[in-house]
Amino acid sequence: MSDNVERAVVIGAGTMGAGIAEVLAKAGVSVTLADVNGQVLERGLAKIHSSLDKAVERQKLTAEQAQAAKGRVSTSSGEERYASADLVIEAVPELMDLKKQLFQKISAVNEGAILASNTSSLSVTELAASARRPERVIGLHFFNPPPIMPLLEIVRAEQTSLATLDRCLALATRIDKSPIVVRDIAGFATSRLGIILGMEAIRMLEQGVASAADIDRAMELGYKHPMGPLKLTDLVGLDVRLSIAEHLTRELGPQFTPPPLLRQLVRAGKLGQKTGEGFYRWVDGKPVAK
Ligand SMILES: NC(=O)c1ccc[n+]([C@@H]2O[C@H](COP(=O)([O-])OP(=O)(O)OC[C@H]3O[C@@H](n4cnc5c(N)ncnc54)[C@H](O)[C@@H]3O)[C@@H](O)[C@H]2O)c1
Repeated sequence: MSDNVERAVVIGAGTMGAGIAEVLAKAGVSVTLADVNGQVLERGLAKIHSSLDKAVERQKLTAEQAQAAKGRVSTSSGEERYASADLVIEAVPELMDLKKQLFQKISAVNEGAILASNTSSLSVTELAASARRPERVIGLHFFNPPPIMPLLEIVRAEQTSLATLDRCLALATRIDKSPIVVRDIAGFATSRLGIILGMEAIRMLEQGVASAADIDRAMELGYKHPMGPLKLTDLVGLDVRLSIAEHLTRELGPQFTPPPLLRQLVRAGKLGQKTGEGFYRWVDGKPVAK
């Protein structure tokens, strides 16, 4: 089966959106990257260009392939591009009402597109209920950074049709990702386990079990995790992880309760790599122990 995706719109050009747009463009899809914040949009485009240039340096792409991929990405702050898209992927903040409003708005101008959410934890079934064609709504959960991480977690909402699922599985192959298909239960297969580990690591830091760097090292060297839970929280964004933990606490129980230290750092604007400080200080894109 073909995915039939020629044109896509990625909404939200933050930590995830730019990378998702890059992945699609490399696979031959014409992508419009959209964001309400013009500066973020510019930074997102620059990030895509620099990542494609690095791929050429590492001989993962030829210069011609990188150039062609750059040519397939455009940016927009307007909504005119929704009408002709075959696929829209939203990567806006983890807020149900915001995502629902977007799906309603897009449905009003384009009933045919697959509407996908990059949500880490929210109910795709609830999101689908806000669209005109709920059978075309699905979760396409990419991982950070999208050009590098091989997993695509596909979340099938109650309403998602088999045709939509099959097209997304075909797309996964085309964009060179390994898909898993999961039921739409809060936290899916990934965030549910990842958040438990992340919240517990923060509680351990609060209790003085070890330093942030040593807690991470414990999981990296002892359990062969490629990155410890605190560094990963910095990479994801402390605000993003807090929203997910709050949602999972409501949906699944107190084991996900975010620790006070996480709230405090978010209040202080220490959101991790994107603001230069979280559990680590970030210098030239690299974590430095505090
Ligand atoms: N950060 C991660 O590692 C990660 C990993 C997997 C999934 N996710 C999920 O991806 C989604 C986005 O997360 P993120 O970390 O990229 O967030 P982010 O805060 O870095 O970026 C979100 C972007 O959306 C933009 N935005 C807000 N409202 C908008 C609107 N109405 N229209 C267009 N743009 C709008 C913001 O300006 C911002 O640039 C969330 O659902 C999150 O749970 C995040």
